[in-house]
Amino acid sequence: MNAGPIYFRLNRTPVAVTAEPIRRLAEVLRDELGRMGTKIGCDAGDCGACTVLLDGRQVCACLVPIAQVAGRAVTTVEGLVQDGRLSPLQEAFHRHGAAQCGICTPGMLMAATDLLARNPTPSETEVLDALGGVLCRCTGYRKIVEAVLAVGKGNPPPLPITPAVGAAIPKVDGIPKLTGTERYGADEWPDGSLVLRAVRSPHHHARFSFGDWTPLKAKYAGLVAVLTAADIRGQNRFGIYPSGKDQPVFAEGYVRCRGEAVCALVGEPQTIAAIRDEEVPVIWQPLPPIAGIDAALAPGAATLHRASPGNILIEGRLITGDTDAAMRDAAAVAEGVFETAFVEHAYIEPEAGYARKVGDRIEIFVTTQTPYMDRDEVALILGLQPQQVRIIPSAVGGGFGGKLDLSLHPMVATAAWLLGRPVRCAYTRPESMASTTKRHPARIAAKLGATKDGRFLAVQFHGDFNTGAYASWGPTVAARVPVHAMGPYCVPAVRCTSRAIYTNDTTAGAFRGFGVPQAAIAIESLVDDVAESLGIDPLELRYRNALETGAVTSTGQRLEASVGLRACLDGLRPHWRRLKGEAEAFNRTAGPLRRGVGIACGWYGIGNTSLSNPSTMRIGLSAEGSITLYNGAVDIGQGSNTIMTQICADALGVPVSAIHLVSGDTDLTADAGKTSASRQTFVSGAAARLAAVSLRQQILRLANVGEHGRVSVVDGRVTVTEPGHEHAIDLRRLPQANAQGDVLVGEGYFDPPTTKLDEHGQGVPYATYSFSAQVALVEVDSELGTTKVLRIVAAADVGRAINPTQVEGQIHGGVAQGLGLALMEEYIPGRTENLHDYLIPTVGDLPPIDTLIIEEREPLGPFGAKGIGEPALIPTAPAILNAIRHATGARLTRVPATPDRVRAAIRAIERQRAAE
Ligand code: FES
Ligand code: FES
Repeated sequence: MNAGPIYFRLNRTPVAVTAEPIRRLAEVLRDELGRMGTKIGCDAGDCGACTVLLDGRQVCACLVPIAQVAGRAVTTVEGLVQDGRLSPLQEAFHRHGAAQCGICTPGMLMAATDLLARNPTPSETEVLDALGGVLCRCTGYRKIVEAVLAVGKGNPPPLPITPAVGAAIPKVDGIPKLTGTERYGADEWPDGSLVLRAVRSPHHHARFSFGDWTPLKAKYAGLVAVLTAADIRGQNRFGIYPSGKDQPVFAEGYVRCRGEAVCALVGEPQTIAAIRDEEVPVIWQPLPPIAGIDAALAPGAATLHRASPGNILIEGRLITGDTDAAMRDAAAVAEGVFETAFVEHAYIEPEAGYARKVGDRIEIFVTTQTPYMDRDEVALILGLQPQQVRIIPSAVGGGFGGKLDLSLHPMVATAAWLLGRPVRCAYTRPESMASTTKRHPARIAAKLGATKDGRFLAVQFHGDFNTGAYASWGPTVAARVPVHAMGPYCVPAVRCTSRAIYTNDTTAGAFRGFGVPQAAIAIESLVDDVAESLGIDPLELRYRNALETGAVTSTGQRLEASVGLRACLDGLRPHWRRLKGEAEAFNRTAGPLRRGVGIACGWYGIGNTSLSNPSTMRIGLSAEGSITLYNGAVDIGQGSNTIMTQICADALGVPVSAIHLVSGDTDLTADAGKTSASRQTFVSGAAARLAAVSLRQQILRLANVGEHGRVSVVDGRVTVTEPGHEHAIDLRRLPQANAQGDVLVGEGYFDPPTTKLDEHGQGVPYATYSFSAQVALVEVDSELGTTKVLRIVAAADVGRAINPTQVEGQIHGGVAQGLGLALMEEYIPGRTENLHDYLIPTVGDLPPIDTLIIEEREPLGPFGAKGIGEPALIPTAPAILNAIRHATGARLTRVPATPDRVRAAIRAIERQRAAE
């Protein structure tokens, strides 16, 4: 009930709102006052995305009833901009690359504003305390902390921005993320939109039917429609692979996992919010769930998908040499069984968007990593041609692989198509966590054999990956893991196999690394075992076996160039020695705290495994002299908008500021493939360079100038200069080349050269690989089992750092997710479906991170660049686990290495030592 207007000041201006007194400030700011800068990541006080200032102090706006705001002053991110100018804090965020996806940025800015108002020169500890309530999943926090500490220290001189490639320029699309004007999936919808809410299974495995809908419809006049599987116009199946479309939009009488949608309620916003799930007439018959890999493989286990008897979705393998003979010859053999858990992406932006019917087409504005795949999938589901579907990606508040699968798209599209009205949907945090994919839990048995001088002879590896209820990206994981399982080392005999296994657990899919991080935990632990048994320094053992240029991988691929692992290890060596010395000195003092240093390596094939994964990019020059990059590569925070612009600027020979961007819209851009597998810089960057080169050549031809001519675009006037001459080009006399009004269009296409793998996994799965290695320093409380990471030194061979700030940001973010994988993250379906029970690293968990950027140029890459997203994460968890072992002697074989597990492993070692 509304009790009359509530008056308060919002960003220094008096406002009055009429709302129920218990409505939350965050909701009122967004829905009633249109201040979309305040984000809702959890609606429960856990993430801090909604942080605003109330009378100058930070509060979570999702927890504050609007009645408590009466007569007070509220400041949101929109209020930081004064007279059209960014605040010094916003400027520092921009300069330091402190915003990646930007969804946490308003909350971070407000928390920091509160601190700086009270303490203009805070210490780092004070910054960590002030930001402790705001979660960020992208940045690893370090650049945010740097930015806050930099405020008040004056602006450094502007960075050189020519040439653009290699310059640490701020994001070209960064300002809206800092001002609250960026539009994420939940931030816009057409007037008159209906709201959709899915009704989902509370059971892991069940049959169901629907009862009588009449009472519900009679009670709620605002309930416009209920959608079920019967309303799907095309095929009620989707999935990543053409032969693996096993997931229904709405279940058909049978659910295979908790969180699966059975129907959707569509109606007026208040009505949909008012209906409780218990009122929906679903009649459940729970079935015994198949929980975990063992249950799925047990004799007599139910078959979850008819096409996959025995619940084995797919198998992968790589076989070369005689591993049994090599193991017999080995002077040192290490082996072990390793287990990992489901890991939640925990992007701070839950899935959201809307659909509307426009003529005989459907338009979907949605948070996504893969607009073209979405377009084709939605077309199949709606029974339309792909050209009838337009995907307009919103800004993406984090993805990490989790937004590569369809979420709300087919539901809102079906509803909008059938009802002829726009329909919007925003997942709640528990809904997002219960219904979307996770990192595959793995159980890995691995064995490594080496000669007495530390040459690796053989690797045997088998990994079972729990792919959950539906295939999603399970086949990708099963294919990628065997190729990477032996690590970035020369190993003459390899037998690596993998399986993706269906269960009734949550669906697993793509998550930064596609199974490689899990495999690295196993192999990098065994490398330390071998080092210990042979008495060889762990770094030097890795160096001795590292792949290098000219080496042949286990798939038989000769690496012709750009193999920077040894350079990474060379860069780490002094840090490794120093930190080991410091840890050993620390450990000479008695007490429960023990320090240790660990090292691990990683590698990552860029792009799809042995599959075509092309990208097409276009760049246009209009009659008015305006340059537009039509960029189909969705920027999910990693910075591809900036990277593509930098590449095009240098390839065309113009400043970054001359290039306008159109991103992601399937009507306006060409297919640049998905933002995954660390491929956009390498693949789409190469296509963008070729597009710009093509446009440059067209301009030079028009000016009749050779390839060294200098192109410039000033005030809409295009000129080409060569020594002694300047040629102006009259663009207005050229015919229009596209619907956007361009008169010249350059197009670039790049598909990395790969080959199919044969039955033994031999071939060229990737055109290039990125390499990384990290050293971790940890402190373990041997009584409590707690682990604190004190420092990470991260080296990464990225080919060429197109933008060093963004490369560092990716490394920091990868380290943060690797730390979470190692120490704290475990998703348990039905138990950890919120950001209170599911822990991700906070600002206080991240140690200082030193980055060493190695640039071994990749000839196929744009200006020599490869990729960094996934390689940044892979070595972190094994380096931390190896550091725990160095500190305590305890070898952790199961992650996360929670205090109880660490403590148990330490006790086991103590018992073993006592018995010896
Ligand atoms: S939305 Fe308020 S704390 Fe997460
Ligand atoms: S930049 Fe912080 S969540 Fe993405």
